[in-house]
Amino acid sequence: MKIKHIGVLTGGGDCPGLNAVIRSVTKTAILRHGWKVTGILDGYEGLIENRKIELTSAHVSGILTQGGTILGTSNIANPFAHPVTKDGKVSIHDYSKKTLANIKRMKLDALVSIGGDGTMAIADRMGKLGVKVVGIPKTIDNDLPATDVTFGHDTAVQIISDALDRLHTTAQSHHRVIVLEVMGRYAGWLALNGAISGGGDIVLIPEIPFSFEKVIEAIHERRRNGKRFSLVVVAEGAAPKGGEMVVKKRIEGSPDPIRLGGIGKVVSEHIESATGISTRYTVLGHIQRGGTPTAMDRRLGSNFGTYAVGLIAKGKFGRLVVQRGDHCADVPITSIANKLRKVTRKHPTVQAALGLGMSFGE
Ligand code: F6P
Repeated sequence: MKIKHIGVLTGGGDCPGLNAVIRSVTKTAILRHGWKVTGILDGYEGLIENRKIELTSAHVSGILTQGGTILGTSNIANPFAHPVTKDGKVSIHDYSKKTLANIKRMKLDALVSIGGDGTMAIADRMGKLGVKVVGIPKTIDNDLPATDVTFGHDTAVQIISDALDRLHTTAQSHHRVIVLEVMGRYAGWLALNGAISGGGDIVLIPEIPFSFEKVIEAIHERRRNGKRFSLVVVAEGAAPKGGEMVVKKRIEGSPDPIRLGGIGKVVSEHIESATGISTRYTVLGHIQRGGTPTAMDRRLGSNFGTYAVGLIAKGKFGRLVVQRGDHCADVPITSIANKLRKVTRKHPTVQAALGLGMSFGE
């Protein structure tokens, strides 16, 4: 079947670099293949509700530098199990037939689905219903297996690094401990890469359960060496040995309803009461997901977009674009489902952190 018209959507949480992908998909489809491109609004919600815009070269001009996604996104929309809230009650509906009918009505020959594991699980099911779909992975967490790196991560690491630069001067002036809580869900990549770039002294990640005693020992050790301040970077998913992760809230209807958060405060209070050293904490939160993408994320997003269009042109569907070394490759779209790429002790960045005398609190 000859492709004439493709759709593109962004699902799940946003991240810097999504607009670079949308721009790249649109420009490559139009300039190289002469196809029409439709942008689906708010992820799969737009397909359920038939909300869309036509994307021309003019629409995507100037968006390379913008954070977020010009198409909007949703991290709860799911054609197969869509939560609808009425009178404060959530009920789940199967809108897959309606979604298929809308794809037909829009006359889409293929769909580029940009998102994380939840979005790819939906894309896979749409593929099984006959939709010609290609996936592009995204997350600031960088925790997806099958791809060496995801766009968005580099920008978030830069933001953490900048935050640490600022916290450094105030911690040093007041001879304080400052704890910075960062995102990353169940993986420690953001905390680890942020801490190494921003000169953190102690880094606590989900993959290495920590002991409060060791954290305090590391702070005292620094004091003995004349360093009267310390910067602690704690991943939102970090937990003490034998303890639990701190859950901030549950989002009913979301593919992963748990939202982590709060460990920074716990660690900070523990340090202050055990050492008597003035201690403060900062939660970086969604600042990590916002703003201008770095050059690397723009480049990665641009490469992924063009590669995805190339897959469609070759008739290769049900595939996910990934980064392998310095080039793009593709794997089955199911490759990231329910699997996480976690930090390992052998990883060069963990080894570098240890080499630099950073403590993991173990
Ligand atoms: O997966 C990206 C991420 O930013 C995580 O690091 C974080 O735990 C989560 O999303 C926050 O989700 P929400 O935007 O729904 O609060």
